[in-house]
Amino acid sequence: MPEPLLELHGVSVHFRRGRTLLRAVEEVSFCLELGDVLCLVGESGSGKTTLGRVAAGLLRPTSGSVRYRGQDVWHLPANAFRSFRRAVQIVHQDPYASLNPIRTVEDTLVAPLLHHRIARNRVDAVERAARLLELVDLVPPEQFLPKYPHQLSGGQRQRVSIARALTVGPELIVADEATSMVDVSIRVSLLHTLRRLREELGVAFLFITHDLAMAKYFAWQGRIAVLYLGRVVELGPTPSVIGHPLHPYTQALLAAIPEPDPDLTRQKAKLLLRSLDIPSLANLPSGCPFHPRCLHFVAGLCDVERPLLDAVDGQRAVACHIVQQERTGSDALQSRREAPTSGNDERLSLERG
Ligand SMILES: Nc1ncnc2c1ncn2[C@@H]1O[C@H](COP(=O)(O)OP(=O)(O)O)[C@@H](O)[C@H]1O
Ligand SMILES: [Mg+2]
Repeated sequence: MPEPLLELHGVSVHFRRGRTLLRAVEEVSFCLELGDVLCLVGESGSGKTTLGRVAAGLLRPTSGSVRYRGQDVWHLPANAFRSFRRAVQIVHQDPYASLNPIRTVEDTLVAPLLHHRIARNRVDAVERAARLLELVDLVPPEQFLPKYPHQLSGGQRQRVSIARALTVGPELIVADEATSMVDVSIRVSLLHTLRRLREELGVAFLFITHDLAMAKYFAWQGRIAVLYLGRVVELGPTPSVIGHPLHPYTQALLAAIPEPDPDLTRQKAKLLLRSLDIPSLANLPSGCPFHPRCLHFVAGLCDVERPLLDAVDGQRAVACHIVQQERTGSDALQSRREAPTSGNDERLSLERG
């Protein structure tokens, strides 16, 4: 068996803010093979960007390991670390912030091609830049090469960012909300391009989004990891997570999708939450971090013991006492279960300002 492309094992990231410790990511593990798609879904502040930066080697985790082709990246010699950094490229949410405003598209793409000696000379580099523009559907390329970022639409700028990520021939692309700043109409065609790149180039994707509908569209052949307050609460193949969500939080996320997607709407049995407030990372609830918001909360269990991410079957895992006990058929649970509080009509909003 060849080593997996990228493996995060028990990764935690803690930030210090003055005297408080923010547990942005706690004990996250996942594995990506070449060509895999893993979608990280969660509300803002759930640790998605932090995990993306860890996966790309931009941030060293407080504890846990990141392995690239079997090697711990934080113990690699400098040149091997550089190869790893090249192999994993990030496409950010805001292409305005990540593209240099005084560089033309040509310069933006040619610079890394020359810097990394991928192109033999300037002529070769421009030729390669043009092919990359075609790959991201900016055609004809001659029309786009001389343009500056401000002369492009948001969607076109994002395509240039993607082309730039492709200059170094990455094996994994971390797409961090890469489609969330463009109009809905353009979003679908951008997603289509990303999907085609995945299929044609065999690049693996860590696709980060707060929007389960995007995850469904992009990662149908892949897996979804649902993050809540820095922890993975549910992980599994996309069709089963979307079609049969197990964790109450995943169910709430699905219910919150505003898009009139018929498949998803069917799941929307108007799921409610006990509370709309997301607890602070600096002061996490005891037991299950979701218990203050969970309709199925069982006192004496959920507020006391932290549920582990346990395998449900060969492919799925969930961190929820209720799901785990129901699966093992505990009767005791039924008698302890609270009736859902009624009249609390708060719904989950995924995107906070
Ligand atoms: N460099 C940093 N220093 C301090 N806190 C940070 C830093 N980066 C992120 N955080 C905090 O970590 C938490 C997770 O952030 P982030 O990974 O950006 O979440 P998401 O991308 O899901 O919105 C947030 O509370 C955020 O404020
Ligand atoms: Mg983010």
